[in-house]
Amino acid sequence: MRNKEPKSNVVRRIKKNKVITFEKIVVQNEEKNRYSTLLYLLALVGLTVAAYACYLGYCETRVNTPFNGAKVVGISGLDVPDTYWGTYRPGVYYGMKTRSPYSPVMGLMWYFPQVLHSQGDNIRHWCEQSDNLGRYGWEEHDGKTFGIQTIKDGPFNLVTSFVKRPGGNHGGDWSSRISVTSEKNHGVGQIVSLFFYAALEEKTKGWISPNENFEKKSHTPTGVIGWTEQLGDFTLRYFSRSKIVQHSFLATTVMRLEMLKDALISHLRHRRSDSVATLPGMVQTRNENGAIEKGPNFIITEITGRVPFEIEIVYESKSYYHRPSTLVGEMFDEELAKRRAHFNEKFDSVFKLKDHGNWNKTQSKFAQVVLSNVMGSIGYFYGSSRVISEYNSSPVPYWKAPLFTAVPSRSFFPRGFLWDEGFHGLLISTWDLDMELDIMCHWFDLMNVMGWIPREQILGTEALAKVPEEFVVQNAAIANPPTFFLTIQYILSNFGEDMIDPKRLAVLERLYPRFRAWFNWLNTTQAGELPGTYMWRGRVLLEPSPEINPKTLASGLDDYPRSSHPTSSERHVDLLCWIALGAAALAEVAELISADSTKYKRTFEMLSDDGHIASRHWSDVSESFADFGLHTDSLTLKRPPRKPNTPPHVPPPGMVRFVLEAPHYRYVDSAFGYVSLFPFFLQLLEKDSELLGIILSKLERKDLLWTDYGLRSLSTTSPYYMKHNTEHDPPYWRGQIWININYLAVRALHHYGTLPGPYSEKSKAVYERLRLNVVNNVMKQYQKTGYIWEQYNDRTGAGMGSRPFTGWSSLVVLMMAELY
Ligand SMILES: *[C@@H]1O[C@H](CO)[C@@H](O)[C@H](O)[C@H]1NC(C)=O
Ligand SMILES: *[C@@H]1O[C@H](CO)[C@@H](O)[C@H](O)[C@H]1NC(C)=O
Repeated sequence: MRNKEPKSNVVRRIKKNKVITFEKIVVQNEEKNRYSTLLYLLALVGLTVAAYACYLGYCETRVNTPFNGAKVVGISGLDVPDTYWGTYRPGVYYGMKTRSPYSPVMGLMWYFPQVLHSQGDNIRHWCEQSDNLGRYGWEEHDGKTFGIQTIKDGPFNLVTSFVKRPGGNHGGDWSSRISVTSEKNHGVGQIVSLFFYAALEEKTKGWISPNENFEKKSHTPTGVIGWTEQLGDFTLRYFSRSKIVQHSFLATTVMRLEMLKDALISHLRHRRSDSVATLPGMVQTRNENGAIEKGPNFIITEITGRVPFEIEIVYESKSYYHRPSTLVGEMFDEELAKRRAHFNEKFDSVFKLKDHGNWNKTQSKFAQVVLSNVMGSIGYFYGSSRVISEYNSSPVPYWKAPLFTAVPSRSFFPRGFLWDEGFHGLLISTWDLDMELDIMCHWFDLMNVMGWIPREQILGTEALAKVPEEFVVQNAAIANPPTFFLTIQYILSNFGEDMIDPKRLAVLERLYPRFRAWFNWLNTTQAGELPGTYMWRGRVLLEPSPEINPKTLASGLDDYPRSSHPTSSERHVDLLCWIALGAAALAEVAELISADSTKYKRTFEMLSDDGHIASRHWSDVSESFADFGLHTDSLTLKRPPRKPNTPPHVPPPGMVRFVLEAPHYRYVDSAFGYVSLFPFFLQLLEKDSELLGIILSKLERKDLLWTDYGLRSLSTTSPYYMKHNTEHDPPYWRGQIWININYLAVRALHHYGTLPGPYSEKSKAVYERLRLNVVNNVMKQYQKTGYIWEQYNDRTGAGMGSRPFTGWSSLVVLMMAELY
């Protein structure tokens, strides 16, 4: 059918106006000699149309076409055996998987039968804030070989520890121990049910099966035997030194990995007497002939005991023939003790806390916990984002890819975020440089042919299940602060010597073209109207607008007030500074790998010139740097009147903004806060700049940003300070204290403090005060609440937002160690 359609129709649909001209020509010209012209025109139009359509198609596919050139992740999977298995499922309380695309997943669930709600919503599995656990997190975790986590659930304490052991050709063995105790004898003798499972995704090449023979012989809980393409043959066995009250298992088929807990709940049967649950064993779907359709892909073993209670889980690879003994009981104790001793030594030698303040034992233990939580929050994800560009009418899938990354929060943000990761990289590279390079390589392999990297990475069904629909699609026009340039600068200035190693230099050489493309994408797509100015894309003013001030998600500082009326003539001072920093970082990288750094040096010099920044962003009215744009502060949120004759059950319309005074082009003087300080934060100002002096004199003013707990994000004198931006959105970057930005502030003060000049002494003094305020408060809140938080209250210092947030709030460790 399609082929028979007259060509002109096809043409008409593609490009109307061209066809119309053509038709006119047909009607008006009948002479033969004109015919050749006509044919010529026809060919020309055809070609143009074809080229245009092709161009459209071409543009449409660019958004999900990978960057040209070799991938930067050099070796992966089983070729890096020491990072093959790991706690790479940060979104569950305790779980193991491998660094392969369709890895089997293994993990823990638990509950206390006495307090089980009828729907099973007291079964713990994914880290959920609503579980209201007293605390949970890694006490020690080296990112590679072992970890110890404590979880406080009501009066009970769970400890999940694991130790890996190399051997064989398939990623080695590991053993886990789960022990449950209770505090001050509350709950001793109470019953606890632990569940441990193995599950395969539909696409995993392999099988698992309950190890029932084993159970019959030794009366131990049912384990798992299995085989996968990467792991070969393996076994999972359970041991317990405590008395087991009951054990049972379930082997069944689940559709997707995010449904494991649902599958468990739907098969739990409760004993009447004490509501202890048991599982029914094999539950398989059969076809009409009674044959089992599919083997199980989810096997979960229930082991119930009385507190105090302990089980051990042993994963062994069949390919490890000469295993000295099974890693269980005393062998486990011994191995764990060895790793712990090594971890403690390494911690002392890396952070040298003793040389950087009188941190006592409690305080250095705190630093260790924070570091461990960053290392223990590293995950491995596989899947594809959904993306859109101006050339796509609807979202398209990105290519399938792996991502090795830390996550900001195990409960609330258990996935990769671009600008967070650059901050995480500062701490991770300090602890394990090669692991950080591996993480960076994974991120830069997610770059498309235009040089864009999606901001939020929602890869795989487990990750997707945690994200509201509206945040899933990533737009290719939208940037995010290029904090990986900060990471690479940090690495070069602190571990420059280590980078000269040929293997690492090779990594840097592979990364370099992608760094350049990233920089170039930012430098061109986010450019402002005036030379040397920049603006974040993606600010949208809806009509009517539920927002007082359209958000700037790209900047990472979501609701930080910017100009009230986004236009293409606005300019954002923080972005200019990030781009200048990027140019400086690229110049340094170029020099290290003997590439030409001229262009980046020049760009850096141009953008970081104090006169240039001042000419584009210094406001004499507020005596500070500021954004520029079409702006008014005379705005209010009001509820529009109900439409006449609306039935009473229809809810009243939502509040929308009203403009009381027309906007005009000006500096956004009413928003003094983090954005105003970026030329200082990113150390672009000259050490003897008067503007630096003005900033320093403002820094300590309590009515502006200074608090006893760190710098607040927005001045109390701003009309937007702690104000809702919409009827429903509470303030987010409008006063709260954020640790990543305080790290930048402390780092900048340290920098200006070490440069002899008029502001050196002042910087030094403020440095020490700010550093201690931030560190002491985060520490205090941790001792008090058991958590590191997303942000801190500027009046009380209390933790706010999501928890645990051991992403960039972990930078307190670097402040303690004075690593910048
Ligand atoms: C460590 O120092 C903090 C703050 O000064 C103090 O509260 C804590 O009691 C000290 N701990 C030990 C073990 O000395
Ligand atoms: C960045 O953009 C500016 C302004 O368009 C240009 O002058 C400069 O050369 C660019 N820098 C690089 C390194 O491409």
